[in-house]
Formats: sequence, structure tokens, C-alpha cells
Amino acid sequence: MLEPQRKLSCSGIPPHGIAGALALFLGPLQFSDKLRRRFLPWHRLIGRIYVYGVAVAAPVGIWIEYIKHAHSIAPLRLLIATIGFGALFMLTTGVGFFMARRRNIQAHRRWMTRSYAVAVVFLESRFVDQIPWLAKLWDRPSTILETHHISDLWVWIVLSLAVAELVLRGERVLKARSSVHKAMAPMAGA
Ligand code: HEM
Repeated sequence: MLEPQRKLSCSGIPPHGIAGALALFLGPLQFSDKLRRRFLPWHRLIGRIYVYGVAVAAPVGIWIEYIKHAHSIAPLRLLIATIGFGALFMLTTGVGFFMARRRNIQAHRRWMTRSYAVAVVFLESRFVDQIPWLAKLWDRPSTILETHHISDLWVWIVLSLAVAELVLRGERVLKARSSVHKAMAPMAGA
């Protein structure tokens, strides 16, 4: 039997890491209104690299987790959560891309916001371990979930998507307020 770690380091990890890192680092550029207005062809190009990055990173991530599970390195609950994570990443990005192709820009922006929220789950779940007080705070709920055979990865997925929805709603409220102010301005001057 092949050594699991060696097999993993030879095949799945580099494409997964490179494609995932591309999506993570390129994502924030896409949200800049200034960049997009001035360099729309670049937005399209970088956006496509992001979409291809997700198309590689998500299935390969699931495959790596499957190999780890098959070699008893990772539990089944983590494999199931990784399948959910990868599926949501591909779904949100795929719908976002489809909406851009259909020139439905509002929907495109919403779905790409959700896609990037799923992308940052990768950072969130690792970030907490690096900060002792956060790791301590997270320890109890995480232990409860894990002892009930539910991976704590789900919490990060749900939290991230909930924050994305809050941001989208907040933007909608702010836009509605500013259009009311604009409509009232001439009346105030009269
Ligand atoms: C992670 C974030 C994003 C990604 C990966 C992304 C990706 C893309 C891609 C791949 C295209 C080209 C689609 C095609 O081939 O026709 C595109 C077009 C476009 N995107 Fe994004 N996008 C993102 C965020 C945004 C945001 C926040 C906005 C804000 C409104 C936006 C506005 C647009 C516009 C205006 C186009 C041009 C559509 C056209 O050709 O008429 N995108 N985007």
C-alpha cells in the first residue's frame, strides 16, 4: 500500500493549493468598483481565472479528503462537510458566472459575494486555531458537534453565508436610503 501522505503530496495538493489560492487572492480585486469601471476586460479575465480556480480547487479538495478518509486520516463527517463545502463553492460560483454571461449584473454581484464568502471559509477555519483565545472560545461548541458526528466545518460555512447575506441586505438598505435622500433633495431646496 502507498504511503497516504506521500501519495497526497505528489498528486492532489499542488493543483488544489494553487487553484484555491488563486481564487482567494483574486476575489477581493473583483469587488473594487474603481478597478471594474476602468478595466472591465481585466475584471472578465481575472474573473475567469477565479472561476477556473474554483472548478479545480473544489473537486480536487473533495478528492483529497476522500483519499484521507480512505486511509483513515480524516473522519467521515469531515468528508461529508467537505463535499457540502465544495458543492456550495461550485454552485455559488457557477450561478455567479452564468448571471454574468446573461448580463444580469445585480444577480452576478450577489452570487459572487456568496461565492467569495464560501472561499474565505478556508481561511476562517484555519485562522481560529492560530489565535489562542479564539481557539479556546471555539473549543466547546466544536467538541459538542464533533462528538455528535457533525463536522464543525459546517458552522464556518453557515456563518460565512449568513454574513454575506447581511452585507447584501445592508447594501440594499443603504442604496434605498440614498435614493430617497436624492429624491427629497429638490423638495428641500424649494
Ligand atoms: C469574486 C467576484 C467576481 C468574479 C469571480 C467575477 C467574474 C466575472 C466574469 C468571469 C465575468 C465575465 C463573464 C463573461 O465571460 O461574459 C464578469 C463580468 C462582469 N462582472 Fe464580475 N465577477 C465578480 C464580482 C463582480 C462584482 C462585485 C460586480 C459588481 C457589479 C461585477 C460586475 C461585472 C460586470 C459589469 C461584468 C461585465 C458583464 C459584461 O460583459 O457586460 N462582478 N465577472
